[in-house]
Amino acid sequence: MLSWRINRTLDSLVGRIERTTVLDPIANRGAALALKPLDASVGLRNVLSGTAGGHPLHPVLVVVPIGAWLGASYLDLTGGQQGRAAATKLVGLGIAAAVPTSLTGASDWAYVRGAERRVGFVHAVGNSLALGLYTGSWFARRRQRFALGTALAGGGALLLGFTGWLGGHLSYARGVGVDTTAFDGASTDWVDVLPEAELLDDQPMLVRDGRTPVLLVRTGGQLYAIADRCTHRGAPLHEGEFTDDGCIICPWHQSKFRVSDGQVLDGPANRSQQAYEVRTRYGSIQLRHADEPGSLRTDPIS
Ligand code: FES
Repeated sequence: MLSWRINRTLDSLVGRIERTTVLDPIANRGAALALKPLDASVGLRNVLSGTAGGHPLHPVLVVVPIGAWLGASYLDLTGGQQGRAAATKLVGLGIAAAVPTSLTGASDWAYVRGAERRVGFVHAVGNSLALGLYTGSWFARRRQRFALGTALAGGGALLLGFTGWLGGHLSYARGVGVDTTAFDGASTDWVDVLPEAELLDDQPMLVRDGRTPVLLVRTGGQLYAIADRCTHRGAPLHEGEFTDDGCIICPWHQSKFRVSDGQVLDGPANRSQQAYEVRTRYGSIQLRHADEPGSLRTDPIS
């Protein structure tokens, strides 16, 4: 009884945030500002998006300030006078760690739109307020005003609880940061997708493996096929630029993927594209997925 009431209240609250279009001008301005350095530097995009690690960096970094700050509150409650110095250090550590954590979050946020952008905006504003409270707490502790420092940290922790829930909503309910092909089914049997004569050299084409869009290209006499939906935010890769070095540049945010194996080379994407096996039989191009599909990729109807 209580759990569904809490669930419904939170859902209703986040639903309101998602529909609050009055946030758009300021949120869009903020996103445009965040995109400027990202558009200018591939290296910065790769670092902040976690391209090398294969997963978004923000959820990894976020544990440092949250852990440090909650540790400080724990010491405030249980550490007595001996815990004060350590609690002050933990608050300071959380403040320092909040800087790279915010940058990675801003990078992820810059590439979402609409409802996700609004929720992300409120998440960021709430986290900034929490950072302000912890900064005030740190200064208060440095001036030996530990009761004030404890109270400010407590307020920050409460705020973080809410903003953390919003961050979870973005990932688990809205799928921000999730590989957009995670649920794509793919046939492990050979499937005819296109007459061979219809494919022109170095011109990527969209074909379908059942309902799953696949990018097909022939270059240097070799056929290649990778998932067409960009793992980052789902752009149709066949509309992107095919480069001389055998890569496709995403038309939305310029992630770069090698078509021979789907490997992501440049972000903001951090997941590679699924690669397919390709062959020709009797003038027809066929493809299949080499791997057994994961459980979430299995069609439950069939
Ligand atoms: S959709 Fe963002 S890089 Fe492809």
